[in-house]
Amino acid sequence: MFLLNTHPDHRKPLLPEDAEVLGAAGAATVEAQLRHRANYAVTPLHDLPGLAAQLGVGAIQVKDEGHRLGLGSFKALGGSYVVVRLVLEEAARRLGRPVDIAELQSPDVRAVAASMTFSCATDGNHGRSVAQGAQLVGAQAAIFVHSGVSEERIAAIARFGATMIRAEGTYDDSVAEAARVSDEKGWIVVSDTSWPGYERIPGLVMQGYTALVAESLRQMKDPPTHVFVQVGVGGIAAAVAAHFALVLGERRPVFVAVDPSRAACMFESARAGEPVKAAVGEPTVMAMLDCYEPSLVAWRILSRVADAFMTVEDEDAVAVMNRLARPAGGDPVVVAGESGGVGLAGLIAAAADPALRAQLKLDATSRVFVVNTEGATDPDRYAELVHGKAA
Ligand SMILES: Cc1ncc(COP(=O)(O)O)c(C=O)c1O
Repeated sequence: MFLLNTHPDHRKPLLPEDAEVLGAAGAATVEAQLRHRANYAVTPLHDLPGLAAQLGVGAIQVKDEGHRLGLGSFKALGGSYVVVRLVLEEAARRLGRPVDIAELQSPDVRAVAASMTFSCATDGNHGRSVAQGAQLVGAQAAIFVHSGVSEERIAAIARFGATMIRAEGTYDDSVAEAARVSDEKGWIVVSDTSWPGYERIPGLVMQGYTALVAESLRQMKDPPTHVFVQVGVGGIAAAVAAHFALVLGERRPVFVAVDPSRAACMFESARAGEPVKAAVGEPTVMAMLDCYEPSLVAWRILSRVADAFMTVEDEDAVAVMNRLARPAGGDPVVVAGESGGVGLAGLIAAAADPALRAQLKLDATSRVFVVNTEGATDPDRYAELVHGKAA
């Protein structure tokens, strides 16, 4: 399914508070913190000339977040960044003076961090990031997982010393449960989704993601003409769309937000003209995108800067994992987990449809940017879907 953005706010400027968080200054703040991380490295930007020729576009570039900070997904940029930032803010408050990132491991700051517990709900990757951040600073992490989260993904979070808490129902139910319990216990919720009255922290999580766009713009010769990004609650799509719009202005790319058809919360919101819940049915294979309620901040941004919304099917997501694993036409191998290649799956579907090509002005001169948002973060599932066997 496909929709051009016809919202009355489409192409209106972002709200000042969103522009402040997601622009060049925000990305610079994130990158300044990243340079203090031991395992920080710019992730690769791959060219896929073979696939570009096959799809009849000029170029496809894939930012490969499978290599991010040892966590295997772009989510490493959000949760852990915010945990570190909040510890520094709290230390400054308690010590009554500014506290620099270089002091993060000092006894005074470690003592402050030790008194803090960070919590969140997760499909897998965001919780890993919050838990990694908490371990780095010496704080506690309490991570809520719903019944669909695999044992492998739970173990990968627990490895960082986090307390794991099982919640009934969907991802969205686990978000509500994390907020409820954290309120009782005095834990700080570092959520990747936002709701009325809870915007600052998820905005900063999204600010973390803008670092991947800032890196990409430096890695590219020319900025992209088209961008396709996958949607869970919409945080990554909104962060990428907003950063391109703020940095490139009138030269900003055509932006397409891509949902799984089984969990199409942003697509359904675009169709309704306001944030709505999508119907809950069979879970999608795109496990990290299995979210039924959009982030309020993400919706506010995408209603302004997304140009189109579309959905892809589970088989499209699996096909793209396989295409990236066994490329043709001289393309490099890219390891993409179930949710990693979904933006690219959107491009492949749009490029194959003459009407959509025309609507999006996709042609042989287009330079398309997509994000491989995760590597094989669930190795068993990857092996099953790409090699047809258990790992
Ligand atoms: C690998 C991967 N891709 C995409 C997403 C979607 O991000 P968002 O929920 O910010 O839309 C997630 C979210 O967890 C993810 O882990």
